[in-house]
Amino acid sequence: MSNATLNIEGKEYSLPVIKGTEGEFAVDISKLRDQSQYITLDDGLGNTGSCTSAITFIDGDKGILRYRGYPIEELAEKSTFVETAWTIIWGRLPTESELRRFSGLLTEHELLHEGIKHHFDGFPIDAPPMAILSAMINSIGCYYQDLLTNMSSEADFEDVAARLISKVRTISAAAYKMSIGRPIIYGVPEYSYVQNFLHMMFSLPNRPYIADPDIVKALNLFLILHADHEQNCSTSTVRMVASSGANLFASVAAGVCALWGPLHGGANQAAVQMLEEIQKANLPVKDFVEKVKRKENGIKLMGFGHRVYKNFDPRSKILHDIAKKILNKKGQSDELLDIAQELAEVALKDEYFIERKLYPNVDFYSGIIMRAIGIPLNMFTVMFAIGRMPGWIANWKEVYDNKKQRIYRPRQIYTGKNQRPYELIDKRISP
Ligand code: ACO
Repeated sequence: MSNATLNIEGKEYSLPVIKGTEGEFAVDISKLRDQSQYITLDDGLGNTGSCTSAITFIDGDKGILRYRGYPIEELAEKSTFVETAWTIIWGRLPTESELRRFSGLLTEHELLHEGIKHHFDGFPIDAPPMAILSAMINSIGCYYQDLLTNMSSEADFEDVAARLISKVRTISAAAYKMSIGRPIIYGVPEYSYVQNFLHMMFSLPNRPYIADPDIVKALNLFLILHADHEQNCSTSTVRMVASSGANLFASVAAGVCALWGPLHGGANQAAVQMLEEIQKANLPVKDFVEKVKRKENGIKLMGFGHRVYKNFDPRSKILHDIAKKILNKKGQSDELLDIAQELAEVALKDEYFIERKLYPNVDFYSGIIMRAIGIPLNMFTVMFAIGRMPGWIANWKEVYDNKKQRIYRPRQIYTGKNQRPYELIDKRISP
């Protein structure tokens, strides 16, 4: 192990250098404050490694993304969401019997406890589905308290993970059905994970929805591409909550809330809303890009830019291809795809975006695919959350399995008032 030397006001400190398996380096400053009274400050944590992890590797300069060492392009071509989920959680591709067992558990656990159904009634009809998803994940956890707090074997953990992955699909579809005033539809055991989700979303009691295999494939791909992405805002949230000893369901419910924001998973909804506004106003794309560059009212090109990718986001390329394929297959066109493509073309040639290394991210084209499938706008980020479950679960497990895990507890530099006496501004009557 090598060391780095830090010189602060003439005094030298030797700090260990950590090397990752893909040649990434970090200076370990975890003991710096004990030695020196100094902390490091990194607003937004853009240059801070919060953990070591063996799950996902990203090289943002080269546009590389691998889950457990498997390139995203190969998984997108050859895998299914369920197989990818197992791989992300357990670290390698499953054997046939492991995959069969896991699929069986997903089917076994797809129902919701009857008692939980009443919880849906408490939400207003227009409640955001992300709020419902987060609240319901926590509520469901209340039905398995023993299981969640006494996971004594890998089999127990697999059971809990399968419950979560299976039930988020049922909750999401049920939230949608409630929002349109239709009865909840349960799964068909013979259907695959994705087929069943589409069935729960779009079937009616007397009118089954028969999913087109190409739509099933496209949704599988969508979920695979969202399945993990190392230490982003929501995954770091899951790890932070997990580090306090909170259970899997509680930690993931927090992850859903972190994902919700428009700078993170909520960008898929925001990107389509942006395209709709451009369409509605019949605004030339170039004019919109100029507004973005002027930062008019703080507007951004939603679905563009990334903290880590500074060349291209490999997921965006695959999603762009799927969007085109689905629309072709359906013999449809979507003017929003034309607008998105034109926006990308203009932005990628513009000095503002080139200089700042801003490229289409995972959220730029994914909404077009969901529109083509028939997923409503306010469910887009829920779809992202269903896809991200395996990543959150795997990250939670890394924290849980690490016997030396310390609670996440960052420091701060205080910039407030110095000590001052308690002096009232006006004369008040004692309360
Ligand atoms: N449109 C216009 N300008 C942008 C954009 C954008 N989408 N993204 C970044 N910039 C500009 C910033 O204004 C800043 O400009 P400045 O140097 O003149 O101040 C510069 O590029 C650097 O941007 P930061 O905000 O510092 O980059 P950061 O790494 O903090 O943010 C983020 C990354 C949040 C993804 C940002 O690019 C963004 O807001 N994008 C739009 C929202 C989005 O698509 N989010 C989804 C990301 S993928 C995911 O989370 C699933």
